[in-house]
Amino acid sequence: MIRLNDRTFDVFLSEEEVLQQVRHLGVQLSRDYEGKELIFLAILNGSFMFASDLLKQISIPCEISFVKMSSYSGTNSRGEVNELLGINSDIRGKHVVIIEDIVDSGLTVDKIHSLLGVHGAASVKVCTLLFKPDAFLGKCKPDYIGFPISNAFVVGYGLDYNEKGRNLSAIYQLKES
Ligand code: IMP
Ligand code: MG
Repeated sequence: MIRLNDRTFDVFLSEEEVLQQVRHLGVQLSRDYEGKELIFLAILNGSFMFASDLLKQISIPCEISFVKMSSYSGTNSRGEVNELLGINSDIRGKHVVIIEDIVDSGLTVDKIHSLLGVHGAASVKVCTLLFKPDAFLGKCKPDYIGFPISNAFVVGYGLDYNEKGRNLSAIYQLKES
């Protein structure tokens, strides 16, 4: 059990469980993108740890770039997505895999998808560590999913609660008070 600000969280996925699934995703992506011009686009801040571990499992040549988006405040999505650091890589003709820590409403991924369209990507797919299918309202369903989870709020492994908890190596779930 851990405490962040005013809330208590219980372990939900251990570091070993997370890393095992990250390895599987890496193997799958390396197989699917063999021979293709591949660029990963990691969405900051939340996906930094997942992106780092996932990229170590990619056995084919690839590029990595970062975009920064923000839609959350506390434990609730604000429903609007802001672009804080834009797409500055040359992605024309390249196969893009968006890396997300979690797809919740799906609005962040939809926004990036629409931005990528005008940049001329050859294809765009989404790889997310966590997916909340019951909260999903978006158009672009994730193509690679580490763990489908319930609607409960989670932290750790890059995910935050008011910017705290990103450094934790396991994933924790909010304890109902
Ligand atoms: P979406 O646009 O609603 O899909 O939200 C995506 C972003 O909201 C993610 O990249 C996370 O940064 C954040 N988010 C969604 N659910 C959680 C959660 O349970 N814990 C922490 N952050 C979350
Ligand atoms: Mg995020």
